[in-house]
Amino acid sequence: MTRGTAPQADPEWFRRYYGDDYMDSVRQLLGGERSEREADFLLRVTGLRQGARVADLGCGEGRHALALAGKGLRVTAVDLSPSFLERGRAEALRRGLQVDWVLGDMRTPCPGPYDLVALLFETFGYFSDEENLGLLQAWRKELGPGGRLIIDVWNRERILADFVPQAEWTASSGLAVQEERRWDGETGRLFVRYRYRRREGPVREYDASFRLYGREEVAALLGQARFALDDVFGDLQGAPWRPDSPRLVALAAGNCGGLRGLSSLLETSSNPT
Ligand SMILES: C[S@@+](CC[C@H](N)C(=O)[O-])C[C@H]1O[C@@H](n2cnc3c(N)ncnc32)[C@H](O)[C@@H]1O
Repeated sequence: MTRGTAPQADPEWFRRYYGDDYMDSVRQLLGGERSEREADFLLRVTGLRQGARVADLGCGEGRHALALAGKGLRVTAVDLSPSFLERGRAEALRRGLQVDWVLGDMRTPCPGPYDLVALLFETFGYFSDEENLGLLQAWRKELGPGGRLIIDVWNRERILADFVPQAEWTASSGLAVQEERRWDGETGRLFVRYRYRRREGPVREYDASFRLYGREEVAALLGQARFALDDVFGDLQGAPWRPDSPRLVALAAGNCGGLRGLSSLLETSSNPT
């Protein structure tokens, strides 16, 4: 099934797309209150306490990283964008918070062990199927005992049930946004051409390609990466998932805890301090 006509994107499209235009188009949507609420949900659903270690992959300007650090968690926040990280760092300084900001590609994991690895607000599905799976496998090895993974993505069932090939809207920053969307059922990817324009300025165009996993497919993918699916929600507040939910939020346990988890267990048992 193919709908719409937006063209294919460069496989590394996310390097160019996630910049100031993207951030200006969503910043108002993702204010501090929402981020705090989402961080509260993460703590509630995982039972994590102060001092627990979280890796926030594709952290953007660190809205979740900052909210979690403010609640006493030890956060490693990874992103490809130096300017997003710089803004996160400045905000952490302003609030007196400690976050470990890492400029890097999420396909290369940062050494754990972590109690939670989080991929929030459509930060999963950018790469080839093999690389998406590889990313999960690699980060699972960095989980400590009892460590978990949370993935928050668009709900594919809802997007396809009510497919919108074109959309236009204006962000509250005044940025005009046009989207042209094409769904490719063979690859399970949504291709989007974004056009951004500020007042009378030039139009800037970006192509993006998101691998959308349905509910059953996410469960299978997590199983392949040796995670055990704990729960599926329909948003980041804990509503039950339904085919028309806005989001698909999968919470999974890292099964055997991964190699690093195992080594940290051994370290703890030989050194009880
Ligand atoms: C959709 S935004 C989500 C930002 C943030 N998680 C939030 O909730 O607002 C995706 C983020 O992932 C980052 N990103 C994209 N590809 C990446 C990669 N390969 N490695 C690390 N970060 C990446 C982008 O720079 C962007 O900040």
